[in-house]
Amino acid sequence: MVQRTSGVTAEELKDQLNIVDVISRVVPLKRAGSNYKGICPFHNEKTPSFIVSEQKQIFTCFGCGATGDVIEFTKRYYNLDFVEACEKLGRENGIEVEFRKGTENKKRDRLLSLNRTAARYFCKVFFEAKNPGYTYMRSRGMDDATLTKFGIGYADPEWDSLTNYMKSKGASDDELIELGLSSRSRDGRLFDKFRNRVMFPIINTSGQVIGFGGRKIDEKDEPKYLNSPENLVFRKKNNLYGLNTAKQEVGEGKPAVIVEGYMDVMGLYRYGLKNAVASLGTALTENQAKLIKRYTREVVLCYDADSAGINAALRGIDILSDQELKVRVFHVEDGKDPDEFVKMHGRDAFLELAKKAPPATQYKLENAARGLDVATEEGKLEYLRRAAGILKGLSPVERDIYVKSLADKLHVSERAINEEIEMNKAAASRNERPRARTEEEEEIKELTSSDAYLIKALITDPSLTEKLFTEPQVITSGLGKKIEENLFRTYGLKGTYEESDAYEGLDPEETRIASEAIDKVILNGKEEEVFNESLRRFKLRALRKKQSLIIDKIEIAENSEVDQDTTEDLTRELIEVEKKIKELEESKDGSN
Ligand code: UTP
Ligand code: MN
Repeated sequence: MVQRTSGVTAEELKDQLNIVDVISRVVPLKRAGSNYKGICPFHNEKTPSFIVSEQKQIFTCFGCGATGDVIEFTKRYYNLDFVEACEKLGRENGIEVEFRKGTENKKRDRLLSLNRTAARYFCKVFFEAKNPGYTYMRSRGMDDATLTKFGIGYADPEWDSLTNYMKSKGASDDELIELGLSSRSRDGRLFDKFRNRVMFPIINTSGQVIGFGGRKIDEKDEPKYLNSPENLVFRKKNNLYGLNTAKQEVGEGKPAVIVEGYMDVMGLYRYGLKNAVASLGTALTENQAKLIKRYTREVVLCYDADSAGINAALRGIDILSDQELKVRVFHVEDGKDPDEFVKMHGRDAFLELAKKAPPATQYKLENAARGLDVATEEGKLEYLRRAAGILKGLSPVERDIYVKSLADKLHVSERAINEEIEMNKAAASRNERPRARTEEEEEIKELTSSDAYLIKALITDPSLTEKLFTEPQVITSGLGKKIEENLFRTYGLKGTYEESDAYEGLDPEETRIASEAIDKVILNGKEEEVFNESLRRFKLRALRKKQSLIIDKIEIAENSEVDQDTTEDLTRELIEVEKKIKELEESKDGSN
């Protein structure tokens, strides 16, 4: 992104545009009251539920929930990022847009640089003089090259070594606490969180130190691994330990080997197996799968051989397969985990196992036989049922291959297995039918309790209606929306309404369900409070959703070498959202 010296900011750009003009160039809009209405371009619909408010300069679709300002519209409609959308809007309207380096983004840089300072400090202590951390890692077979490669460090047993050091480097109390490097004691002083631990810096693919794992050395300490808390720069579910070192080989055609622990990644590396990553002590996440996909399409899962490891593998398979990654799975047979195995048997033995690792489907099939005796008729039947469930999602070709081998193995006809699969499919789609229904059909017969509270408050005090006009989407259930429409309409006509107006046009069943839910709510004159609190919670929920969405995007952007500006914009957005969340959280006690 080229820095510009003149031009307007994104905020000013918005002021110079009229959302109605911009949208009506691509979506035919009709006037509807003070707003404009059209067919939503973001989902399939026949009757228009896409509203553009000229006054508020926003669009909202009451069908699919899409909403936002003119920039958001452009982003979505043309599938652009924030910067691209601003540029397009600027270009088409003869406005020059300027993107300044986000000042808010400085906080990120600052935290990252403090983490790096801490990592250097731990590392220095680890390598400079004899210490229990170094001794421990050597006793576990690590050599200096590997220890250096992973930036391993040592946090001494003192209560304030790191805190003092960091403060001497200008770190503030708040920063140290946010990073999880220090805690505040009851007398108000800061103390080191990591004491007498081997420190594993967690480094993202851009080489930034985003957090730490600290392994205990003393058997009696707890927990075994102490990890940095989630914060602005550390999001566990969007990073993989070791990907920074593994990405090269993985990018050069080796599969990514996913293991459970820090020590597994290092242990394998020590033996020249440099393509392992670990999922930071959590179940594998969608974002981690997406991250891997940037470097390879092939994954080998190698979790511990205990039942937790097997279950984690089964879940991991689905997460990875959803991203269209090719997955194979194995567990080391001797030794608890890959680190122990490779130490005992060496690199080639591990590679041999990895080479023979069965594809995910085969692994699942083998696993489905657990606890069954397929020699008995009963066991065989149950196994067939389970196998059908596994095979039903495969492509016809793949399915055919497995059906053949199963038929051989179980001495049943292929036709019988195929029939079982069809039956399984039919049963699954029967079970899914409620979910496959359209939203209206699905939601129409229920009134969520938060909707019931809101509606009760409205009925008790119709003057609250106006507050809801400006907050579409607060009422979420299908039935609730019908009632809301009734109330809005009546309010528009008469400036007030009664409970009976709420049920207009509902069928008797709906009326019964709604009135029962509403009757159950007792407000005791607190309707305004309840109403405000419901709104507040709704806004918080929406903001938190937005927050986690942005966080996901940031981590992905950060790990994908996209231009710096994208990350900066997202970070700016995130800080904005987090500010709003904080405000809302603080406004709890009546001030809102
Ligand atoms: P393991 O207990 O298998 O650890 O936990 P490990 O990596 O094999 O370590 P060693 O060999 O015993 O030293 C697997 C991973 O789960 C997370 C860590 O990421 C660890 O590497 N974990 C485990 C924690 O975050 N906290 C814990 O207390 C334990
Ligand atoms: Mn281990």
